[in-house]
Amino acid sequence: MNRPGWLVHPSGPLAGRLLMPGDKSVSHRVMLLGAIGAAPLEAQGFLRSEDCLATRRAVEALGARVEDLADGGVRVLPPEQLVSPSGPLDFGNSGTGIRLMAGLLAGRNIDAVLTGDESLLRRPMERVALPLGRMGARLETRNGCPPVRISAAGPLRPIDYSMPVASAQVKSAVLLAGLSAAGRTVVRQPALSRDHTERMLAALGCPVEAGDWGAAVVGPARPRGGKVIVPGDFSSAAFFILGGLLAGGDAPLELEGVGLNPTRTGLLEIFNMMGGRIEITRLREECGEPVANLLIWRSDLKGIDVPPELVPLAIDEFPALFVAAALAGGTTKVRGAEELRVKESDRIAVMARGLQAVGIDVRERPDGLLIEGGAMRGGTVDSGGDHRVAMSFAIAAARASGPVRILDVANVATSFPGFREAAASAGLAIEALAPGAAA
Ligand code: S3P
Repeated sequence: MNRPGWLVHPSGPLAGRLLMPGDKSVSHRVMLLGAIGAAPLEAQGFLRSEDCLATRRAVEALGARVEDLADGGVRVLPPEQLVSPSGPLDFGNSGTGIRLMAGLLAGRNIDAVLTGDESLLRRPMERVALPLGRMGARLETRNGCPPVRISAAGPLRPIDYSMPVASAQVKSAVLLAGLSAAGRTVVRQPALSRDHTERMLAALGCPVEAGDWGAAVVGPARPRGGKVIVPGDFSSAAFFILGGLLAGGDAPLELEGVGLNPTRTGLLEIFNMMGGRIEITRLREECGEPVANLLIWRSDLKGIDVPPELVPLAIDEFPALFVAAALAGGTTKVRGAEELRVKESDRIAVMARGLQAVGIDVRERPDGLLIEGGAMRGGTVDSGGDHRVAMSFAIAAARASGPVRILDVANVATSFPGFREAAASAGLAIEALAPGAAA
């Protein structure tokens, strides 16, 4: 395989104070809501990762202008109306970008083709095409996957839709379409899912209601502009929470500016149940999102049965959790997590193979994994091109008995471009292997 890889040696104790990069989910929404606003939207802390930059290029192709600000933030200047792009919109690796954009464009008289990389071309789009079709949108998928062709349609009809899966992406796509439908669009969820869209719509003055049941929006509505602050990404912090618990020293590893939206922090509850010591300090609120610093203490973890209701609240953190389980005492069972099979990779299969490659006893189930905690040896792990799998194994290597070689790591830039530097500053050296050397 001719793709870059990493070589990570077991490390000494991880220590220090790390500032977390901006939240990926919130950064996508800054571009999307900024592009249809009534006035410019400024966002401090916008994440310049490949996924969010793909969404930025897409809104620019639709007629928005985006300026880079001296403080590192961005200003999105919306056009009077979005225009049909001259070529396909390429979302790279990003399911969030493509699904939310499908909802945003559905009722705006736009012709567009939405596409992405080889991983995205395998991911399900029917879950958004179906409710958007019921609203009157015209979307065609290729066998249920991208590319998605959107044909001019509008205005849409509001619907009352009960989602079969607890997906924030589906919920958000329908709410964004609801902004251009006259009346109340309702999305009901079978379990709690992340609520960044609802929070940002409310912060930007749109008539939105939200609760454990789901959310509703009354259209037509246009977000007002203004200023938002993007919190640090809890999902990026998760790797260093893992690192501090597994390989911290005498002092805690400190993570600064971590978004603690309660629909994102299932992993904190799970790690608590496993015996992890994590302290929350300086809890504050920034633009409708809770933010805090975290102190992570080295802890002896024990295996648990992960409560299925926490799965959507920790949906992106399972690669990190599986590594924690592999190094915990006893057995960890994860059930009700079949959604992991349709993420950037099949995270159940890819993590099972990766853990087996470093000597861990894992059994794969259709909807989860059974992991026997034990000692981890060195070995070669294929990340399957999945950013979160690659980062989880890099942290795992800190506690392995030999070096871990991780294949196919370029996609780490989709969510956490500064990961290697952050790891190095905490004491974990990650050596880059040139393409070819990793094969
Ligand atoms: C996201 C929602 C989640 C998550 C993804 C980002 C979002 O997907 O896995 O990384 O920004 O809305 P689902 O809601 O489809 O589970």
